[in-house]
Amino acid sequence: MNILVTGSRGQLGSEIHELSPKAGKHRFFFFDLPELDITDPAQVEKACAINSIQAIVNCAAYTAVDRAETDAEAAYRVNRDGAAVLAACAARINALLVHISTDYVFDGKASLPYRESDPVNPLGVYGKSKWEGEERIREIAPSHIIIRTSWLYSGYGANFVKTMLRLGRERDTLNVVFDQIGSPTSASDLAEAVLSILDRAETGKRYSMTFHYADEGVCSWYDFAVSIMEMAGLDCTVLPVDSTQYPQAAQRPHFSVMDKSAVKREWGLRIPHWSVSLARQIEKILKTTSSNS
Ligand SMILES: NC(=O)c1ccc[n+]([C@@H]2O[C@H](COP(=O)([O-])OP(=O)(O)OC[C@H]3O[C@@H](n4cnc5c(N)ncnc54)[C@H](OP(=O)(O)O)[C@@H]3O)[C@@H](O)[C@H]2O)c1
Repeated sequence: MNILVTGSRGQLGSEIHELSPKAGKHRFFFFDLPELDITDPAQVEKACAINSIQAIVNCAAYTAVDRAETDAEAAYRVNRDGAAVLAACAARINALLVHISTDYVFDGKASLPYRESDPVNPLGVYGKSKWEGEERIREIAPSHIIIRTSWLYSGYGANFVKTMLRLGRERDTLNVVFDQIGSPTSASDLAEAVLSILDRAETGKRYSMTFHYADEGVCSWYDFAVSIMEMAGLDCTVLPVDSTQYPQAAQRPHFSVMDKSAVKREWGLRIPHWSVSLARQIEKILKTTSSNS
């Protein structure tokens, strides 16, 4: 398949780029701002037409969760309207649209892992804009696979792991919330999952599916931070605090664990435990940092 990857210089897009030479049976075309703005139908149509695109993987998003609260227009423009532009193009050219969404479509009031069919109730602008993007895709793109993920990190871009590694070197102690529970996900694992799905997707078949994908296991941001410090050998004490002691502009779900049975069953995926992937990614990040210094 000829595959267009949008938002290709973000965390997930970069990981797909890194893995793409191994996916030899596909030809990938990577685009990000400024050369391809997903909110611009003409740019999207042109990129698809000149590269005879058969599938689109949308990694582009407005991901600044707190900023979205005061910049709602920009968040909706990319996460809802941009998704609709890609869906309309996919519909016109008969392409499969693989779109990434988020655990923040849920309000976190559940006590069991969220299934794909559970009712959504996003708490903030980011989650709402991503949910509306999902809905546009379901309405417009005849063939789509929506994958909700959570707590993404990577050696590329800015994320919690890289922030902890920096602060762990700078500080003796650090406060991290313990009352938000979820599943950290290596963007590299998600990239592998996306490529496996593309490998197994049947050309010409119409998909209308939503899945949950996160790395296996569950923890709080506090547990995650403790593991990062231990794995990186950093002498920084992480102190547990609750969310009221760490106010942020956007409210986050307290529980955003997702049930991944469907994605494993449908596509035969084996998902690594978050701690195994974290160890591998920290080793990679530290190696890159030391070779750059
Ligand atoms: N990060 C997380 O913890 C997390 C958790 C759950 C779900 N997700 C979802 O997973 C997906 C991938 O996330 P990520 O962490 O890889 O995101 P990311 O690192 O923020 O990358 C997003 C990319 O999209 C680009 N972009 C923004 N607006 C665009 C536009 N109008 N047209 C084209 N490209 C545009 C960004 O460019 P600029 O940097 O120049 O803006 C960036 O390169 C997203 O759908 C996100 O909502 C992320």
